[in-house]
Amino acid sequence: MNVLVTRRLLPGVLDPLRRWAVDVWEGEGPMPRSELTKRVADVDGLLCMLTDRIDAELLAAAPRLRVVSQMAVGVDNVDLGACTARGIPVGHTPGVLTETTADTAWALLAAATRRIPEGHDHVRGGHWGPWDPGLLLGGDLWDTTLGIVGLGRIGSAVARRARGFSMRVLYTGPRRKPHLEARLRVTYRELDDLLAESDHVVLTAPLTPETRHLIGRDALRRMRPDATLVNVARGGLVDHEALYEALIEGWIGRAALDVTEPEPIPGDHPLVGLPNCLIIPHLGSASERTRRAMAELAVANLERGLRGEPLVHCANPEVEHP
Ligand code: DGY
Repeated sequence: MNVLVTRRLLPGVLDPLRRWAVDVWEGEGPMPRSELTKRVADVDGLLCMLTDRIDAELLAAAPRLRVVSQMAVGVDNVDLGACTARGIPVGHTPGVLTETTADTAWALLAAATRRIPEGHDHVRGGHWGPWDPGLLLGGDLWDTTLGIVGLGRIGSAVARRARGFSMRVLYTGPRRKPHLEARLRVTYRELDDLLAESDHVVLTAPLTPETRHLIGRDALRRMRPDATLVNVARGGLVDHEALYEALIEGWIGRAALDVTEPEPIPGDHPLVGLPNCLIIPHLGSASERTRRAMAELAVANLERGLRGEPLVHCANPEVEHP
């Protein structure tokens, strides 16, 4: 059987696939679409990244394809309906990246709220003078209200960490999760109320047609003027034009983004130049241990799919249990 892997991975992780013919894209950056379309022609298994668009057109170019395995938990780049229609299970990697991504959300929240990057730039720029009681005053984390949009695995891990900061935690999502409310000490709010009551808002919801631009002008206008917005989910959750306006005009205090729309965000994008907008290049799960675990899980999903077994984590389970 033939396998295509669309990005170089950490040493050793592809070893379990040795018995099959494995083609790995060795080029710099994501595999160009034309190359991907060409190389899937005789492929049985595809191990792909969130930068690859897996849609009906690509599936049509891959008549032998029997499993897609994505090395990410989010699968908004994959047309699940088209895969399901072809009976192709789509693997993904929830669980193994939960804690690392929650750590990143907290790193962003703390850095933006306490203005750490601005302080760093201040020192690097040679501006550090005598101690100044008014220098770079920011917000607090302790004794504030944190609003989590999307109380899934990552949102729950973010909530757990909030206890150490004596925070009140609110959450919102498509439905209430009473079983988590007592365990995590979180309180449900409708989105509008959560936005109005939170000092900090962290986005951990998946990108779907329903959540696209969930945080637009209306939502940003509801937030507090000193609020921090953190996005570790997908850039598409936030309307970036509206966010720029909100940051310039002081509807909110600051934003910290691990994800943007588009990605990569161009260096001359207006958000990049704002002192109250911290942006990092989609590093949510980027610890060595976690990226290895994600790759290993993606390989395990792929192997199982090739053998015709249920995947460890399948994003379209209706294929496996029609
Ligand atoms: C994911 O898994 O969806 C992240 O965005 C990358 O870790």
